[in-house]
Amino acid sequence: MPDIDHSFIRNQFPAFSEPSLQGFLHFENAGGSYACGQVIDSLNRYYRETKVQPYYGFDPSHTAGLQMDQARTRMAKWLNVATDEVHFGPSTSQNTYVVAQALRQHLEPGDEIIVTNQDHEANVGVWRKLEAEGLVIREWQVDPETAELDPAGLDNLLNDRTRVVAFTHCSNIVGSVHPVREWTDRIHAAGAIAIVDGVSYAGHGLPDVDELGADIYLFSLYKVYGPHIGVMVMRKSINEQLPNQGHFFNVDYPTSRFTPAGPDHAQIASINGLIDYFETVYSHHFGDDEVLATRKTARVRALFQHTERRNLKPLLAFLSHHRAVHLIGKVTTKHRAPTVSLTVDGRDPADIAAALAEQKIGIGNGNCYAYRLMEALGIPPEKGVVRLSFVHYTKKEEIGRLVDALDGIL
Ligand SMILES: Cc1ncc(COP(=O)(O)O)c(C=O)c1O
Repeated sequence: MPDIDHSFIRNQFPAFSEPSLQGFLHFENAGGSYACGQVIDSLNRYYRETKVQPYYGFDPSHTAGLQMDQARTRMAKWLNVATDEVHFGPSTSQNTYVVAQALRQHLEPGDEIIVTNQDHEANVGVWRKLEAEGLVIREWQVDPETAELDPAGLDNLLNDRTRVVAFTHCSNIVGSVHPVREWTDRIHAAGAIAIVDGVSYAGHGLPDVDELGADIYLFSLYKVYGPHIGVMVMRKSINEQLPNQGHFFNVDYPTSRFTPAGPDHAQIASINGLIDYFETVYSHHFGDDEVLATRKTARVRALFQHTERRNLKPLLAFLSHHRAVHLIGKVTTKHRAPTVSLTVDGRDPADIAAALAEQKIGIGNGNCYAYRLMEALGIPPEKGVVRLSFVHYTKKEEIGRLVDALDGIL
């Protein structure tokens, strides 16, 4: 594995040369990452050159539509799914909401849905609301000591009435990366479908969705160096079963059936910029050889995660040895994203965040919409946790500055 070239990587992100951000440390990437320059340029170009209704025969309309189609195709390749299995919505919360409306029409009273209490509410609440339609909701609960989900808990809940299991690839609080394939295999063996929230995972490398076996896989590009848009992969077989949520005359168009409120055209087109970024990361670190997109996805993902794990070690070492700190999740870096949450004896997370903000360090605090997880862990949801999250562009020296600042504050 080559070492990441941080100066090359950071050159792709205008935020790192933005005068107003000099000296600022971004440790709230789980909330929203910086956007790469390729995406910003693409948005700018779209609005200047092709901001007309797309898909007519005249230029610039034709070019606009072409860019939107290319964005979908290129994203699909990197995710290892078919082009018409990729859907764009305004956000992941909106995408799960639309799918829930389809399931409401599709499922029968008495059918069961399994949700977790580890997930962000976007992958819980919409399914739970279906209880009002006579569906039975089962909760796969975390171990309150470790905050982890045990697959034995899933096995205990699966039965011949289970139709759907919704779980997260990686919690936005705990950070553990789940063995999605193992779990989707169990879910499929029980005859149910798997809806996987990849929002906290995708920024650490795009997944191979086919390999994961998810029937529906969701993530949000504003946490993946892109625009504020939600990506939803829905496998063909599921799309064919679920009722149309779009205009009646779009019933036969797979990518129009689940996007009654399609997002900004410019943002869709700008996904080309994001793929350009991944392509350039690939060729800079691995050469220009012609390989399948899935190979590129795997290599870029490995590069990101290798870099992140190396930087995660000193942070976890500091936090796990601090007497006042209660670290949530694993103290080791294997199968762990660099999303690190904690509470501190006698301290309000908001005060810690404010003290770090004074030192120009941005972190997250609160329940981060993992409200039910807070309750399960005995943490007051209105106070929540301190959340420190970084990605591949974060440098070792920045981790050092964060640790020093925390050392002074805690
Ligand atoms: C794990 C997770 N899932 C879902 C969401 C919701 O995503 P969106 O803001 O695109 O609705 C978030 C947002 O923070 C999240 O962290």
